[in-house]
Amino acid sequence: TWSASSVIDDQLARIREQVGGGRVICALSGGVDSSVAALLVHRAIGDQLTCVFVDHGLMRKNEGEQVITAFRDHYKVPLVAVDAEERFLNRLRGVTEPEQKRKAIGDEFIRVFEEESAKLAEGGARFLVQGTLYSDVIESGGGTGAATIKSHHNVGGLPDDLQFELVEPLRALFKDEVRAVGAELGLPERLVWRQPFPGPGLAIRVVGGEATRARLDTLRDADAILQDEIRRAGLYRELWQSFCVLPDVRTVGVQGDERTYGYVVVIRAVTSDDAMTADWARLPYDLLEQIASRMINEIREVNRVVLDITSKPPGTIEWE
Ligand code: XMP
Repeated sequence: TWSASSVIDDQLARIREQVGGGRVICALSGGVDSSVAALLVHRAIGDQLTCVFVDHGLMRKNEGEQVITAFRDHYKVPLVAVDAEERFLNRLRGVTEPEQKRKAIGDEFIRVFEEESAKLAEGGARFLVQGTLYSDVIESGGGTGAATIKSHHNVGGLPDDLQFELVEPLRALFKDEVRAVGAELGLPERLVWRQPFPGPGLAIRVVGGEATRARLDTLRDADAILQDEIRRAGLYRELWQSFCVLPDVRTVGVQGDERTYGYVVVIRAVTSDDAMTADWARLPYDLLEQIASRMINEIREVNRVVLDITSKPPGTIEWE
């Protein structure tokens, strides 16, 4: 019978056998897969592992710091944290078309990661950890949309003189098994149950326009309120995803006796099993009211909140 602890024992032995005394690097994204993969490898070989976390500045509020604190301070995993916000924002300047945004972010990500991994390779690193799951192994066969949208996570695009041997300790696991392994390894609940978050981050949720720092900040504030209220209502785990979208649209409102002209925030919350199809979540009216009034009162730039009631199909989960 399946148990997280036997998977862990089995993988620790395999990892040790594969890498011996070699040096290993791992790109952390903040998500559950790369976190569990990194922790497994660290438990197997200790400080032969160095993690690289590229903060592209498109994460949710405090998320970058949470990753750094958990791995560097709590688990004592050697960690290179790259603050690349400026680089990514520069790269995104003037980019409004969704696929171009993805490409710009993916290209820049590979460039930053290449620079860091080249340094570590000079220090002798020969192995690269990837949090590939069983579902990724299946999907990558057909060139499906899912495989394509994840392309920026693939470091297969590294140049020939920078070849790493892959270490993939999650290759046989389903998502729920990865969460169980993570919990067994002592990963905090917040990370174990983190909802999926797209690689290009908040940039593809500032829609119909450029992802500027100001707009990203507005979206980050709105998103933080939504997450807070959803968690407080005990709904976080039930939802496949819950997030905000910030269209490049302002509308007229009135607050006190003043006319306002502010941004519209869209609430998007869906239930789903695998993201191939999704249903819009019937959030309680009281909760929606609380979320909307907090957003409008606490975020100066926002004066209207709307709810996306589109299922997938015909809508996709993300707006871009
Ligand atoms: P859609 O919007 O296509 O999203 O219904 C399906 C799932 O994939 C996530 N998603 C992405 N993940 N890079 C990612 O790593 C991307 O570019 C990307 N686009 C969408 C989305 O959040 C949802 O869970």
